[in-house]
Amino acid sequence: MGDEDSVKRLAVFISGNGSNLQAIIDAIQDGQLAARIELVVSNRREAYGLIRAKEVNIPTLYFPLRPYLESGQSREQYDAALAERVAAYQPDLIVLAGWMHVLSAAFLDRFPQRVLNLHPALPGCFPGAHAIERAYAAFQRGEIDHTGIMVHWVVPEIDAGPVIATAEVPIYSADSLATLESRVHTAEHHLLVEAIRKVSDPRLTR
Ligand code: GRF
Repeated sequence: MGDEDSVKRLAVFISGNGSNLQAIIDAIQDGQLAARIELVVSNRREAYGLIRAKEVNIPTLYFPLRPYLESGQSREQYDAALAERVAAYQPDLIVLAGWMHVLSAAFLDRFPQRVLNLHPALPGCFPGAHAIERAYAAFQRGEIDHTGIMVHWVVPEIDAGPVIATAEVPIYSADSLATLESRVHTAEHHLLVEAIRKVSDPRLTR
């Protein structure tokens, strides 16, 4: 690694706090990840992750869905326009790190096998929003004794697609939702960087 063309160009998509974005920024700065974040995209203006990006001079794009819907355009038209804007940055990989919008084929077809997503649940468990809360409730009902996280290639079906990396996260009887969330997010920060490194390794077939 190290020569220019082996450094992966990343576009990172967020909708909120951006702690996973920060984990990528930190890993790059610490020399732990041979990548460069070319763009940070958010569909929410107040996403703190936009501030995190600006603090380290990463270009940002605030791209809300509402104006499209209010002007009678479709989610697919939004997705196609978003893909057009993002393509200009020539990303090798698009990392969905807390991106709370389901991307259709109008976006995904522009970046085949180049979009990965982080989801705070094990493969096949708790797809969709509030996955940690749902796992915590299932634990309290005695249905599960642990949860987990995964990074997967994105396909039109939500939180599905081939798994790149996954890790179990224990749940303890003394846990509150907050302590479980904290443990899950800490695990995510490591797994996401590991997954990006894994798919960036030229020796790995995809
Ligand atoms: C993460 O738990 C991610 O798995 C989920 O949304 C959360 C984003 O957290 N999709 P952050 O914005 O990276 O702190």
